[in-house]
Amino acid sequence: MKRLSLLLLPLCASLCSCTKEEAMETLTDRVFDRAAEQLVLLDKNLEEGECPRYADADGKLVTSDIWWWCSGFYPGSLWLVYEYTGNEDIRALAEKHTVILDTLQFRTNDHDVGFQLNCSYGNALRLTGNQNYVGVLCNGARSLATRFNPAVGCTRSWDPAPDHIAAWKFPVIIDNMMNLELLLKGAELSEEDSLRQVAESHAMTTMKNHYRSDGSCFHLVDYDPETGAVLRQQTVQGFADWSAWARGQAWGLYGYTMMYQYTGKDVYLAQAEKIADYLIPRLPEDGVPYWDFDSDLVPDDLRDVSAGAIMASALVRLSAYAPEEKAAGYLGTAERIIRTLASDEYLAQPGEQCGFLLKHSVGNKPGNVEVDVPLTYADYYFLEALLRYREIPHKIYNDKN
Ligand code: GLY
Repeated sequence: MKRLSLLLLPLCASLCSCTKEEAMETLTDRVFDRAAEQLVLLDKNLEEGECPRYADADGKLVTSDIWWWCSGFYPGSLWLVYEYTGNEDIRALAEKHTVILDTLQFRTNDHDVGFQLNCSYGNALRLTGNQNYVGVLCNGARSLATRFNPAVGCTRSWDPAPDHIAAWKFPVIIDNMMNLELLLKGAELSEEDSLRQVAESHAMTTMKNHYRSDGSCFHLVDYDPETGAVLRQQTVQGFADWSAWARGQAWGLYGYTMMYQYTGKDVYLAQAEKIADYLIPRLPEDGVPYWDFDSDLVPDDLRDVSAGAIMASALVRLSAYAPEEKAAGYLGTAERIIRTLASDEYLAQPGEQCGFLLKHSVGNKPGNVEVDVPLTYADYYFLEALLRYREIPHKIYNDKN
């Protein structure tokens, strides 16, 4: 028996090497079909006014109210599925889950109003042109800008909260780079240039104080709000202050790529490339990062699918801006991540995971919260990565192949 299987090995290997890779168009169809099915199921599992958060180890759906930082991702995913499929029932669901976020436009006590409104209302405006959404986005941007401190040059991330034991004076987390998109969109829609100035100041200050010379970044920088001096550089959700927490690296990569998209300034493109050039060689072979690149348990540690999905989406976009000699590498890495996430290992089967699309994300491992679970933002950025991939000019595909 052993001898027979040994004899069969070369045959299997040659069969495998001849197996045709699934075309990206087919893969995209397959994932969006699954997403449509799953996201409708998720809606059925929600009570009115609830937002999906994750599915726990027993398969139970955990929800949040609209104030949780992730409340915009589920409506955002619905909008992306509507964009791909044109399915009017999905559009109705997207509208339903978007408008419940209306009051967030006046939220001034947290930076994540950017995520919340941009993914929901931002996509709603982009896909429908409905001008009723403009006011919400502009108000949201103005609310976020109230958190700007000119001495620091950044918008503040978190206000003091009972669960934040650390006595930060003016904490800024790398995640905040993502919220700048609402400011830039708000600036375009309202023609208030001060919103763009806030975003640019934040991005430049973050580049200086969050980033290390190798292109990796700290999670949190605490500032003196009077002088703008850096008081501390540390982690909250990563393995160690000095380590490279995967999602933080992903937020930065996406954030600087987005800054270039809106401003056309080379300084942001160079920063995005520097981050990508740091990250890519550190990814495991299948492209899905460990939750922290420097965790002491790697290679026997958990992957963070959310970080992989964010990186994939950012890298596809970056490949469209980067010089030709780098573009194919960025796109190729994104494709590698996408293909892995679309496999049975990561893609939920129909009816599984309460209606989430992707398994195996890590929210906050040190806090033991949302560890190895499906998360709304993994789904959102995965779908976005696929839609962005479709838009890449064929020239890059041809160069690659
Ligand atoms: N903004 C929170 C996180 O990335 O977990």
